[in-house]
Amino acid sequence: MTQIRSMAQPVQKRPGELGVHSLDQFNFQVADLAEAEKFYRTFGLDVKEENGSLGLYTFGHQHRWGSVSEGPRKKMQFVSFGAYEDDMPQFRERIDRMRVQRLDPPKGFESNGIWLRDPSGMLVEIRVAEKSSPNEKADVEPYGGKPSRQNAPNRSKAPRVYPRRLAHVLVFATDIPKTIAFYRDVLGLRLSDRSGDMIAFMHGIHGSDHHMIAFVKSDAPGLHHLSWDVPSINDIGLGASHMADKGFTKGWGLGRHVLGSNFFHYVRDPWGSYAEYSSDIDYVPVDYDWEAKDHPPEDSFYVWGPNPPEDFAFNHESVK
Ligand SMILES: [Fe+2]
Repeated sequence: MTQIRSMAQPVQKRPGELGVHSLDQFNFQVADLAEAEKFYRTFGLDVKEENGSLGLYTFGHQHRWGSVSEGPRKKMQFVSFGAYEDDMPQFRERIDRMRVQRLDPPKGFESNGIWLRDPSGMLVEIRVAEKSSPNEKADVEPYGGKPSRQNAPNRSKAPRVYPRRLAHVLVFATDIPKTIAFYRDVLGLRLSDRSGDMIAFMHGIHGSDHHMIAFVKSDAPGLHHLSWDVPSINDIGLGASHMADKGFTKGWGLGRHVLGSNFFHYVRDPWGSYAEYSSDIDYVPVDYDWEAKDHPPEDSFYVWGPNPPEDFAFNHESVK
């Protein structure tokens, strides 16, 4: 008889320390779900209609990385972090000891997780979930043409690109030092790197990419970008080209970041935020203490690539 194997990874846990292990899922609102469905399908995601909202999946993976709901205008709603079940009592105890207010779940998202607001006012949940963050550095497809053959396909035969997983989320934050302290002291994330009080990158303690969430300074909360992992730089180029062919021409890339080291191309979405194709991001193993550094912004934004659009860091959600 064939044995059905679980898709779950083996449990990987840093002993004696309390922290979430994954960015389990995100939710944001937009005014037109059909527009969102078209954008993310074209981007290469598996978009499913679920009770009047859209579930965002990647092909070949069971996890639902996030959802898009209908609302008056684009608005970041919440980020849920995954934790191990036996850590939940300690999280509750820590949160009560710190006198952080526990909230009711938002309507339609009833759960037995712990709901809080971060210093910018964004809703955050800690819930029991399987670890969806990688247990090791993601594979990068080796690249190199072979002799005696045409190694690139004709343009008409170029394959579609389908991201493998959500890599990270970057949100706006009103106070970077307070935000770092909240996610460190309440959720148990660690600072990977920062640029003064302008931008901060944080990772999980149980094995995580260089950042599962990052924060950029603004006067209001909001979603800046969702980043999706692809196996190679070639896939980044193929994805960006396909998006441009379908009318999604604005964005930033191809380039390479300094903090996280990932290769990137950002495609501007219909709401002025971005979907990022990302490859080869740095990884912090479960038993490694990453030394956080403060980098001058002009020396740490990107190693190479075109100049970013002038409004790249504009928070469209702060417009009243
Ligand atoms: Fe990113």
